[in-house]
Amino acid sequence: EKGGWSSFMAKEVSEQPDAVANTLRGRITDGRVVVPELTEFGDDVLAGIRRIVIVACGTAAYAGQTAKYAIEKWAQVPVDVELSHEFRYRDPVLSADTLVISISQSGETMDTLMAVKYAMSLGAKAISICNTQGATIPRESDAVIYTHAGPEVAVASTKAFVAQITALYLFALHLARVRGSLPEAEQAAQVAELQAVPEKIATVLGVEDEVRQLARWMSDTRAVLFLGRHVGFPIALEGALKLKELAYIHAEGFAAGELKHGPIALIEPGQPVFVVVPSPRGSAHLHPKVVSNIQEIRARGARIIAIAEVGDAAVLPFADTVIHIPLAAPLFEPLLAVVPLQMFAMELARAKGLDVDQPRNLAKSVTVE
Ligand code: F6R
Repeated sequence: EKGGWSSFMAKEVSEQPDAVANTLRGRITDGRVVVPELTEFGDDVLAGIRRIVIVACGTAAYAGQTAKYAIEKWAQVPVDVELSHEFRYRDPVLSADTLVISISQSGETMDTLMAVKYAMSLGAKAISICNTQGATIPRESDAVIYTHAGPEVAVASTKAFVAQITALYLFALHLARVRGSLPEAEQAAQVAELQAVPEKIATVLGVEDEVRQLARWMSDTRAVLFLGRHVGFPIALEGALKLKELAYIHAEGFAAGELKHGPIALIEPGQPVFVVVPSPRGSAHLHPKVVSNIQEIRARGARIIAIAEVGDAAVLPFADTVIHIPLAAPLFEPLLAVVPLQMFAMELARAKGLDVDQPRNLAKSVTVE
């Protein structure tokens, strides 16, 4: 039930601190990540993995794209992220030391199910990240790490997304431990970051009024661009997807570094651009590059809405609006930065009088190819 909320989506956005906390529960012991389902799957098998292929669709694929950065950094295994339907119908090169990880909230997405079955038929091992107990994809896989986001009713995925990233980070830290690729102190630091996420998301939920005003005031906008870099890139893609599906507004996400290779031609006076800004402390090498992107598009008249860390003074002179997120290590920023983008899409849809929970033409679970 919706309780006192205006929509299931509003309720589910607000449940994100619990979605993360519940997904962490029982998987951290003495400052180390031990995922019981993975121990059962076989730590020796995990230690021998040479390559990971993540298959998923839509928002789940963006969770995979975000986790790629963490898995490669912590466990030092190469990761490819593929849309399930693209992966299935080419001739992918897989071997017994390839691990396929599927991500699916529903566990019933036909495209992803077909990709998993196909990979297994070629000899790959398959682990599923799923939010629905006993669904088809986890049943077909060798192992499953359930996200415990609770049932997601709104068509647009929100709390499942943050739970998927959380589960994938747990996977990455478990893998790093069995492979010995991350020093103990580093593991403990990442665990502490993970445990701090629920409270930080709760803080971000406080930007609601600010975002609602922004959305009301932008309700006749025709196109919105989203820029991000590193882990901010998949978040830019997710922000754009949310806006398309909920508010029926043309939206596109770009890697900020790609701007000068073409998309900057789209910038004209008044064009709204959301920019996910990396932390000036945690990403000292990337922060100035993104600030300079902001300056370039600002000079061409773009209206900048920056999602930036509290205390980031460098963006202030160039942004029309700054939405603040709490301090976090770079890999954890996506779990915070996505929240205002979800809210923005939801509030813009509401401002346009649209059905937030049931956008046109979409179904919660896509069970046909
Ligand atoms: C976006 C959205 C979809 C799903 C995609 C995969 O808000 O909900 O893009 O993420 O259809 O669905 P699952 O995770 O059930 O496989």
